[in-house]
Amino acid sequence: MFMYSHLGTVMQTKIAEIADGIYRLSTFVPDIAPPAGFTFNQFLILGDEPLMFHTGLRKMFPVNHDALGRIMPPERLRWLAYGHYEADECGAMNEWLAIAPHAEPAHGRTGCMVSLNDMADRLPRMLQDGEVIELGRGKRVRYIDTPHTPHGWDAGVVYEESTGTLLCGDIFTQLGDGPALHGSDIVGPAIEAENLFNYSSLSPDMGTTLRVLAELSANTLALMHGPSFSGDGRAALGELADFYDRRSSDRRMVAA
Ligand SMILES: [Fe+2]
Ligand SMILES: [Fe+2]
Repeated sequence: MFMYSHLGTVMQTKIAEIADGIYRLSTFVPDIAPPAGFTFNQFLILGDEPLMFHTGLRKMFPVNHDALGRIMPPERLRWLAYGHYEADECGAMNEWLAIAPHAEPAHGRTGCMVSLNDMADRLPRMLQDGEVIELGRGKRVRYIDTPHTPHGWDAGVVYEESTGTLLCGDIFTQLGDGPALHGSDIVGPAIEAENLFNYSSLSPDMGTTLRVLAELSANTLALMHGPSFSGDGRAALGELADFYDRRSSDRRMVAA
């Protein structure tokens, strides 16, 4: 769908701290879905054992490596986690493992069994649904299985408990190069992107899964594709759940 051949040579990555000790590394690609363009965001959670959520595309490794190096020595990375097995989520995994000798991939059971146990150059840590990784300096990251939400049977998200930050992966994907953090609507733009890309699996369980995430009452939602959101995470996830319930019910009626 997307051409990534020239990335890494022309892109610039912007850095912003979106919550205490959580950094957004954002690369805007104007050639994807023009004229709006599209962002790819990695999130670094600092601690004694720093964790990065998404490795980024393999072809963006040079720009992301440079950006991370402006925050901390990249070789100190300890954990590499991501939403599901796909190029933008984990394409650069082995590049990071090569430069960070103590880094380990961490993902859910399905993802480890169907992809990581073979594809990762270092054995992954297999996380159970709800398992916590203590990063030190008060940072605690909880892994939550979200199968087929928004896509990928290995899908999952992580929640940093001390800051109330939910790292959403592809959930709430939107176009454009907005601010790093804002409090405006993210549901409408997510519906626009869904209408354009049809990227969600439309599993009948999507609404239920999103409501489980709403129960966290996160106050920051970190989007992989779009700005981060500061505000009522419960309400935003509830609205998105309602949308997907309607959309999957409409599709079933068309198919019947
Ligand atoms: Fe994806
Ligand atoms: Fe993505």
